[in-house]
Amino acid sequence: MEVEKLSERYIAYTYKRQPIVLVKGHEMFVWDSRGKRYLDFVGGIAVCSLGHCHPALTRAICTQAKKLMHVSNLYYIQPQAELAALLARVAPKSIGKFFFCNSGAEAIESAFKLAIKHTNRQRIVAMEGSFHGRTAAAVGATWKASYRKPFEALIPKIFDFVPFNDLTAVERAIGEQTAAVIVEPIQGEGGVNVPSDDYLLGLRKLCDEHDVLLICDEIQTGMGRTGKWFACQHWGIEPDEITMAKALGGGFPIGCLGAKEEVMNSFSPGDHASTFGGNPLACVAAKAVLQTMQKLKLPQRAAKVGEYFKKRLEELADKHQCVQEIRGIGLILAMELTTKQAAEDAVVKARERGFLINCAANKVLRFVPPLIVKRKDIDSLVEALDKILAEVG
Ligand SMILES: Cc1ncc(COP(=O)(O)O)c(C=O)c1O
Repeated sequence: MEVEKLSERYIAYTYKRQPIVLVKGHEMFVWDSRGKRYLDFVGGIAVCSLGHCHPALTRAICTQAKKLMHVSNLYYIQPQAELAALLARVAPKSIGKFFFCNSGAEAIESAFKLAIKHTNRQRIVAMEGSFHGRTAAAVGATWKASYRKPFEALIPKIFDFVPFNDLTAVERAIGEQTAAVIVEPIQGEGGVNVPSDDYLLGLRKLCDEHDVLLICDEIQTGMGRTGKWFACQHWGIEPDEITMAKALGGGFPIGCLGAKEEVMNSFSPGDHASTFGGNPLACVAAKAVLQTMQKLKLPQRAAKVGEYFKKRLEELADKHQCVQEIRGIGLILAMELTTKQAAEDAVVKARERGFLINCAANKVLRFVPPLIVKRKDIDSLVEALDKILAEVG
């Protein structure tokens, strides 16, 4: 049975899939089962930041797989401790201790549990347009009603939503029972929404004034994507908690919650745990990712190449009426089109021409390529988009 049929027969229908089977990857390229090559501007949705199958990452995983794949957190785990020490060096200064898990949503759940335990308060302020994952509390903090509605029975009623980029609304929403405010410094799934310059600083100030924790969800924006290790560093703010996943393992599943030491110390044995969290295999993968990013100066590279990419996208916006806006920082960029149909058609036409791009928030084309993307890759995408926009517009 071919893969499409096997999948339809046996796999839960939770994703609308493009009609290709990707079987191989190298650097910026992936190949489908028919041998067609694509330049990948999706990168597993902001995951494969070193490109596909980077030798340092592959080597680290293969070597560790022959040595020790998994032991319980009942024992000390050397790569886990080393990874935490490495992360402490690149994370915002406030972040001193780490809890490892397996996905973004799990990192978010951990962040909420920690905030509630630390403050002994029960409510969380979240943003309209947010996306924090699909498990019960993570989806509860996620804005889109259609993601939440069918599961209301499962979702804790502890979230107060306020418009993104509105400090007055946050101040109004913070109450006696507020444990934390959660924000994506740049909203990813919400359509790459960048806040105004004073927003994150204002949030930090409000949280300090009201003795409330500030959680930065950097699952999509972290690990160098925006041109700094973490997006919140663009605004010089220090969160109390920070969540990571996606690019942390470069394709190997790992999630992480970082927190101020005194905040993380509110957890004691039994409060929280994960069988696989921070196992040797995942941690050597993340260590290899971090060390390679440092060696290749990928955050700095993302800043430079991202600036070029944005400028080229702006040229297209000037030329094509169907483009409403270009936004983003570093290598998380978006082109908002006038209609959902145009955006969906553009994704299909790009794929047919050998480019993988995706759609976020209906009519937004989102570009989150590996951080190794070259100017010539960008030029060839822009050349293709020029033709595609003329067709879909
Ligand atoms: C900002 C943000 N938070 C949380 C998540 C959830 O991560 P995961 O899919 O690994 O559970 C995502 C995934 O897209 C995300 O972009």
